[in-house]
Amino acid sequence: MMPTTVYVPCDTTALAMGADQVATLMAREAADRNLDINIVRNGSRGLAWLEPMVEVDTPDGRVAYGPVEPDTVAGLADAGLFEGLSSHPLALGRTDDIPYLKKQQRLTFSRIGITAPLSLDDYRAHQGFSGLAKALKRSPQAIVDEVKSSGLRGRGGAAFPTGIKWQTVHDEPAGQKYVVCNADEGDSGTFADRLVMECDPFMLIEGMTIAGLAVGATQGYVYLRSEYPVAHRIFKAALERAYDAGYLGDNILGSGQRFDLEVRLAAGAYICGEETALLDSLEGKRGMVRAKPPLPAIKGLFGQPTVVNNVLSLAAIPFILDQGGKAYANYGVGRSRGTLALQLAGNIKRGGLVELAFGITLRALMEDFGGGTHSGRPLKAVQVGGPLGAYLPESQWDSPMDYEAFAAFGGVVGHGGVVMFDDTVDMGEQARFAMEFCTVESCGKCTPCRIGAVRGVEVIDRIRAGDNREANLELLTELCETMVDGSLCAMGGMTPFPVQSVMKHFPDDLGA
Ligand SMILES: Cc1cc2nc3c(=O)[nH]c(=O)nc-3n(C[C@H](O)[C@H](O)[C@H](O)COP(=O)(O)O)c2cc1C
Ligand code: SF4
Repeated sequence: MMPTTVYVPCDTTALAMGADQVATLMAREAADRNLDINIVRNGSRGLAWLEPMVEVDTPDGRVAYGPVEPDTVAGLADAGLFEGLSSHPLALGRTDDIPYLKKQQRLTFSRIGITAPLSLDDYRAHQGFSGLAKALKRSPQAIVDEVKSSGLRGRGGAAFPTGIKWQTVHDEPAGQKYVVCNADEGDSGTFADRLVMECDPFMLIEGMTIAGLAVGATQGYVYLRSEYPVAHRIFKAALERAYDAGYLGDNILGSGQRFDLEVRLAAGAYICGEETALLDSLEGKRGMVRAKPPLPAIKGLFGQPTVVNNVLSLAAIPFILDQGGKAYANYGVGRSRGTLALQLAGNIKRGGLVELAFGITLRALMEDFGGGTHSGRPLKAVQVGGPLGAYLPESQWDSPMDYEAFAAFGGVVGHGGVVMFDDTVDMGEQARFAMEFCTVESCGKCTPCRIGAVRGVEVIDRIRAGDNREANLELLTELCETMVDGSLCAMGGMTPFPVQSVMKHFPDDLGA
């Protein structure tokens, strides 16, 4: 008889919740019962509140159990987990039928949780490297055109069209060019980049290799958030396997084309996620923002033409090359094409990854997927797009999530982080935190940001203390305008967004 396959995820969330111990205990419980099982350490399905979510292969497909904490393993085994039985309270039924998963449109994340992250066989069996194989048969311009036709816009925050960025690098004269992957993932509540690197690392390798072929770059770097040791370990192992199997190196799949790829640990500063500061940091310098122009696409890493793209932008590329840009563009609304990796976090019942076409409303996302607040108290505000995103009040939760609809009311989709707050949150404190965050994370190059954020904290403190309130509110309004208009980069330029949103929508919390 074939052994029963039991899946225990190996990503950071599952590990933090005891997945290694769960795997050990599963093996022991099976041995005690003379059952032959094969434990596969798969990636996470992205249902964070259920981690470690253990799955068991059955003739009817995989069935899931979660959250499986170490002290629940024996009880689950007694209740027939190895036979896929569903009598235990932690039994979730067929994985594919879990509504949170079933309602998603997973294009980029179609493999996560299904495959073992470091198995090349698994990857190939699930369309892995088909995009690369197709790219190798096409001209660089044809690859760029395919990406343009997908309508893909950068998922790192600025939403710049990826195909146009690639075209600029492609059109620069031949010479040393680079592809740099921004995996600094500094936004609050975000974890989708990490999931890609921990759960489907070959997808990023494939996307970056295709980018290299498209623009004529032979060297790539992944600039990885230093607080992601598991992603670092898994990605480095994936690189080694990809080299050994001929997917990287000087003769990709016998094509005679070359692409080398390395991973570098980031400096641990939020500003090093800004693309020009990132390039300085990658060059071994302190991460300081560079003035633009020149664009990194023209003068980037070591002064050479460089594609800088977020993990999720590059991870979308294999699908686009395999299925065609039009297939990707079929999803979405308006100028926001394809799918968005939404990351639900904060005070929420069901935090996790939700990949959907652009256009869902925040309310549907927070209620249908998130299940409301973890505390059970009423929801008060939601911050979308990281620490520089506005706090959105209930009146804005019915707007569809797309770049233009959000921009229309001063919101940002950014990297897709959605952080929920219940009615106990002090929004005045949140406004202060935005300014304080900027004092800590500013690179210090320009005055509106370096000095403005410090003054911002002081003024908010005075307002909250009731000291000359009206005059100080006016001063804060002016200060915000100066930072928005006068800052060199979006760090200082967007820090006022959360502050202004609090002034507008939650004035009571500023002591009104
Ligand atoms: C302060 C600041 C922090 C940023 N942090 C990140 C980050 O962690 N990851 C990221 O991909 N982009 C980040 N960005 C956006 C990058 O500057 C850049 O737009 C992005 O890497 C381009 O890739 P994309 O076109 O694929 O989005 C940040 C921008 C700013 C201003
Ligand atoms: S806005 Fe802030 S982070 Fe950006 S260049 Fe100016 S000082 Fe540096």
